Amino acid sequence: MKLWGGRFSKQAAKILDEFNASLPFDKKLYLEDIEGSIAHSQMLASQGIITQDEAEKIKKGLLQIKKEIEEGKFHWDISDEDIHMAIEKRLIELIGDTGKKLHTARSRNDQVAVDFRRWVLKRNIEFSEKIKELIEVFIKLAKENTDTIMPGMTHLQHAQPISFAYHMLAYASMFKRDYERFIDSFNRNNKNPLGCAALAGTPHPIDRFKTTKALGFDEPTINCLDSVSDRDFALEILFNIAMLMMHASRISEELVLWSTSEFSFVTLSDEYSTGSSIMPQKKNPDVPELIRGKTGRAYGNLMALLTVMKGLPLAYNKDTQEDKEGVFDSVKNGLISIEILKETLKTMKVNKGNMYKACKKGHLTATDLADYLVKKGIPFREAHHITGKAVALAESKVVDLSDLSIEELKQIDERIDKDLDLCLENSMNSRKSFGGTAPESVKKQIEYFEKFLKEHNDKN
Ligand code: ARG
Repeated sequence: MKLWGGRFSKQAAKILDEFNASLPFDKKLYLEDIEGSIAHSQMLASQGIITQDEAEKIKKGLLQIKKEIEEGKFHWDISDEDIHMAIEKRLIELIGDTGKKLHTARSRNDQVAVDFRRWVLKRNIEFSEKIKELIEVFIKLAKENTDTIMPGMTHLQHAQPISFAYHMLAYASMFKRDYERFIDSFNRNNKNPLGCAALAGTPHPIDRFKTTKALGFDEPTINCLDSVSDRDFALEILFNIAMLMMHASRISEELVLWSTSEFSFVTLSDEYSTGSSIMPQKKNPDVPELIRGKTGRAYGNLMALLTVMKGLPLAYNKDTQEDKEGVFDSVKNGLISIEILKETLKTMKVNKGNMYKACKKGHLTATDLADYLVKKGIPFREAHHITGKAVALAESKVVDLSDLSIEELKQIDERIDKDLDLCLENSMNSRKSFGGTAPESVKKQIEYFEKFLKEHNDKN
């Protein structure tokens, strides 16, 4: 008989059991469920709602169940519907009638809200830790490459010379924002819904502040009706992961491009590359491709839950049970993607020479010529026009702009003089403005990220 079977005269249809059950996936919440139940029963005892003796019996039974689950000895039965019922039923089997008192002043609605929320909160922290490790790799790559010149691009066309360090720090910036988002979500959602009961609170003299403290929350949630139907914490982590994956996908796309024979800016290590089953010569960038691919799933999971939630009247509705699988999927794929991205970056070879060679195509220092003319008092628009003519001359001679002689340039505009130096180093080193690509500017950025990491590692 179901724990809720009192008003029913027939057994549920077998197909209903399968359709209705969340047990196959919410098993994952067993630890949060047991911890929540221990905190709840201890609070019930300290409020005199059950006896201390009963609370101890309940705790012992719950710890026994935890052991059974962890040792693979727990008997899972889909007709128990979910992890909450499975554990409660086993508790009653183990300790008898006292087990039936555990659910006093509680409902599965606040129970699932507290379990799932705590599971998600822990994952926010796990992501933030992983992201810091990834940022460390970007900093290391940056430190090794402040003088490594590569073509900076817009529209995937050569634009201006930048350092590879600078490019890596662009990603450090993105992932730092991701880190902050996971921490923000943790702080905003670290509130306790336990004790909200079905939707309206409870007539029992419970103390929600006690379970709040026991479970490590900052405070109890303020409105029970909201608390049992709120899944913002789940949506937030789904969004955080979607955004994180979008950033991971962008660097992945670059790794795919950079590891082609056309670019050859990096060589991915054998450890993190795969072969082709038919073409023996191939080494494929499956890791970044998979990260790029999994990003689609992360977006899908976010959209799915937003859609589940959008039409729900207050308070709990069974639709909400659909909140878990997408979150579990995004968390699993997000964590492994960040881990493997980190290793791929750590082990790849940076082909500095090829990056430099690539800068010799595409007239990367054209803006420098225009800026030079501006310094001579020529309005920027006019300087732009003159530079355009110089580029056309270089194109007609099939050389790079930086290879034209001063004499050749003088024929275009006589104000061009010997003090002009269009080499790549000059161009990059001159962009010293705050946040720019010059090595001295990049060193400040490295210091900024190192300080950030130090502060945030010290906090733990
Ligand atoms: N398995 C359910 C879920 O994940 C637990 C809450 C069930 N509550 C209820 N009133 N049926 O949402």
